[in-house]
Amino acid sequence: MDMEYRRLGRSGLQVSALSFGSWVSFGNQLDVERGEACMVAAYDAGVNFFDNAEAYAAGKSETIMGEILQRQGWARDSFIVSSKVYWGGSKPTQRGLSRKHIYDACHAAMNRLQVDYLDLYFCHRPDPNTPIEETVWAMNDLIRQGKVLYWGTSEWSAQQIMEAHMIARQYNLLPPTMEQPQYHMFHRERVEVEYARVYREVGLGTTIWSPLASGVLTGKYNDEVPDDSRVNLPGYEWLKEMVFSEEGQARIQKVRELTPIADELGVSMAQLAIAWCLKNPNVSTVITGASRVSQVEENMKAMAIVEQLDDDVMAQIEAVLDNKPEPGAFQL
Ligand SMILES: NC(=O)c1ccc[n+]([C@@H]2O[C@H](COP(=O)([O-])OP(=O)(O)OC[C@H]3O[C@@H](n4cnc5c(N)ncnc54)[C@H](OP(=O)(O)O)[C@@H]3O)[C@@H](O)[C@H]2O)c1
Repeated sequence: MDMEYRRLGRSGLQVSALSFGSWVSFGNQLDVERGEACMVAAYDAGVNFFDNAEAYAAGKSETIMGEILQRQGWARDSFIVSSKVYWGGSKPTQRGLSRKHIYDACHAAMNRLQVDYLDLYFCHRPDPNTPIEETVWAMNDLIRQGKVLYWGTSEWSAQQIMEAHMIARQYNLLPPTMEQPQYHMFHRERVEVEYARVYREVGLGTTIWSPLASGVLTGKYNDEVPDDSRVNLPGYEWLKEMVFSEEGQARIQKVRELTPIADELGVSMAQLAIAWCLKNPNVSTVITGASRVSQVEENMKAMAIVEQLDDDVMAQIEAVLDNKPEPGAFQL
């Protein structure tokens, strides 16, 4: 089945429903050659959005992606590339969402990615030490200067996103178009409940992350830890601890219970988990991650199985997950 393209929120930007990100993999597991093979497999499957951040591998991830974009020579108007600002270094002026760091980080990301504008630029987290007003102005200025096309947030609360919109409205500035939240079968509250009013009021788009809960939802950790998996990487001990915590083990048990549903459909557990995210109409794009081409190829096929997830299958999944978030009385 062909790739589906969705509007990024209320904007006119058509983003592929499956996209590809470089967190953990680029610079830690993948060099230019191997990263290139993954990006080409994704692009050939119809992916038009590649996600990155200044923090990924301390900038190396963007440098690798920039080299790949150069080597491939894809038409600049055929792909969307992002960066995120927040963790740029250890000095006080190298982090957060001040006008200064946003300005410096944007230029550094464009240099590393070897592009003369960023399609999407995200505030990687809310910054309690910078007034939202300063951040909205800084993002608006970058857009007016032609360095950024759309700006957004990542892991901001509904209230913070709405505050940015109110400031933008007050001063006639460009508001955030999209948010990048964590969303997968085990992490649902924010995307399904907290943002409900934000979708309605301002047409928020979402570029959701970790659809496989860092691989847990593939079933790869059901019985053992494969040597070449993310949790074994130096610096990712925290992830291993999470996977093997009590909560992590409860999740793995759920994956075991979900596997027969995937088997019945003739798909892999990874494909079922990604397709489940795609079913949510408020998801503009599911950012996938991979450490090898075979994973990209497997994950891209999730697009084709979305239609197999009818009400009956979704109810079976819901019964196993047993974690449907309740709508709040007041959701902002
Ligand atoms: N905004 C944020 O704060 C934020 C945070 C995290 C991620 N993100 C974005 O979201 C993207 C995706 O996140 P993610 O990488 O955590 O996604 P994920 O889908 O939860 O995990 C991807 C990892 O799972 C394993 N995997 C993927 N497909 C597999 C398959 N078919 N079979 C077996 N293993 C498979 C691979 O790791 P191994 O092979 O190494 O095990 C792969 O790197 C990131 O690249 C980044 O762009 C954003």
